[in-house]
Amino acid sequence: MLPRLLPAHLTRDTDGTPISQLYGDIYHSASGGHAQAQHVFLAGNGLPGRWQGRKLFVILETGFGLGLNFLATWLAWQNDPDRCQVLHFVSLEKHPFTADDLAQLHAAWPELAPLAQELRRHWPPLLAGEHRIELAQGRVVLRLVFGDALDALSRFDAAVDAFYLDGFSPARNPELWSPALCRALASHAVPGATLATWSVAGSVRQALSAAHFAVEKCPGFASKRQMLVGRYGTQSPNSKLHFTDQA
Ligand SMILES: C[S@@+](CC[C@H](N)C(=O)[O-])C[C@H]1O[C@@H](n2cnc3c(N)ncnc32)[C@H](O)[C@@H]1O
Repeated sequence: MLPRLLPAHLTRDTDGTPISQLYGDIYHSASGGHAQAQHVFLAGNGLPGRWQGRKLFVILETGFGLGLNFLATWLAWQNDPDRCQVLHFVSLEKHPFTADDLAQLHAAWPELAPLAQELRRHWPPLLAGEHRIELAQGRVVLRLVFGDALDALSRFDAAVDAFYLDGFSPARNPELWSPALCRALASHAVPGATLATWSVAGSVRQALSAAHFAVEKCPGFASKRQMLVGRYGTQSPNSKLHFTDQA
């Protein structure tokens, strides 16, 4: 029997943005969760362009939260006539929401409703370990790993093409941005794998650089002036890291 987890507790900020009492931080930009996912995580990783014509493309995310980044990615994949044959989305989550809470949260994005409903239909019991969910006739595979991210990274195999780094702020959730975590991410990266995150904190840039990701700041989403993109194994920080905003 797999151990139970401490689920997330659904609370909202005064403007309605979901917030974690455990971490004292919001789950997504108050300026729009779906648009943030498109700007920071998809465009920041050069998607959908980079998966086009591929047999398999693998994304790894730190922090599944509401599944907003996953749903935005699935929708972009579904709408792309040149999409990869199979998309694997690995996401690590220590405090998952219940399906009922997800239903309340997902109601804010009607454009994602059919996919969100499909996701909730397959939502696993909140037990630690990996839950493999096959969607879109098996062409979208969500590998949800419930438990601590660093611990999970040491236990499973994945050859990752793109990383979505989406913990709470490094000040409030330091273990999701630590040098050890960045090294663990690198150990699953294919050469040339990319990353994107909304955080430009010096400690994050340092930890990623030490793990052999060349990182670069670029324009952020909404009120955030900057965000970070990066590439694994790139020698020069001046190499072409700037992806076009395709999502
Ligand atoms: C900003 S939210 C992620 C939002 C999410 N990407 C989305 O699209 O909705 C950060 C998430 O990281 C999770 N988290 C925090 N520390 C963690 C850890 N050590 N291991 C795994 N997940 C963690 C939190 O529970 C939370 O769901």
